[in-house]
Amino acid sequence: MKGLILAGGAGTRLHPLTRAITKQLLPVYDKPMIYYPLSLLMLTGIQDHLIITTQEDLPNFQRVLGDGSQLGISITYHVQDNPNGIADAFLLAESFLDQSPVTFILGDNIFYGHGLPSTIKLAQTNNRGATLFGHYVQDPERYGVATCDTQGNVVCLEEKPSNPRSNLAVTGLYIYDKHVCEMAKQLTPSDRGELEITDLNKCYLERQCLNLEVLGRGTAWLDTGTHESLSEASKFIEVIENRQGLKIACLEEVAYRQGFISKKDLLHLASSFKNDYGTYLNLIADEL
Ligand code: G1P
Repeated sequence: MKGLILAGGAGTRLHPLTRAITKQLLPVYDKPMIYYPLSLLMLTGIQDHLIITTQEDLPNFQRVLGDGSQLGISITYHVQDNPNGIADAFLLAESFLDQSPVTFILGDNIFYGHGLPSTIKLAQTNNRGATLFGHYVQDPERYGVATCDTQGNVVCLEEKPSNPRSNLAVTGLYIYDKHVCEMAKQLTPSDRGELEITDLNKCYLERQCLNLEVLGRGTAWLDTGTHESLSEASKFIEVIENRQGLKIACLEEVAYRQGFISKKDLLHLASSFKNDYGTYLNLIADEL
């Protein structure tokens, strides 16, 4: 299983915040946004990742994450020259994926919840075709929306419908089998000129190999698409971290707990931070 993160886009909805820095590197409380989706993939055991970003933003991602070796993982990068849509990621990632199944996550999607990595791992093991993760939201018209029959099978997928048939949004986390690149090649651009992820998912639905896992209400799926929701996501992380004294999506901690790096490596990483973040990493290293 490989990991793919899409971190492109102009982020116009968040201007002027995103004029000089891409959305996925904006702070969400104490970490850049990309830490959250990347940590989730790492928590499912994935060590081989590709990040798709723009030419302009590439050096910033490299400054923040490097080649991943410090975290015991591999991070490679691919430039998306034009904003051709989310499903374009699979055309760009074809040689990286090399027929491997993939867990794909949008770089601005933040998930939090007990047992989430196990849920995703199980879905990775059981995936036959594509697996989507649904979450109930108040404003489904802003997302891909799934409608299910009484058995929970998806019967319809719509991208940002003006009259949503359900409140079940399709989150930006997807698992695909080795055929995903071939399927993506068959897509044609939508009216807005993009290869839509919902169209790709519809191809799997038509072939009757699409599954949807509903993430229960004990899972938080945080939006970062508006100034308010970005600020709320930061507050959410701040409240939980300060209450528990434990960090969410701390990549160095995740790498250590997953066994990707040793205690010595973690202590070395800790020494590179001259602040509370470094103190926290030292505490984690001393824990066992
Ligand atoms: C994209 C997808 C949409 C999905 C959403 C999740 O929308 O097109 O289907 O529900 O991500 O974050 P965007 O946020 O790019 O408008």
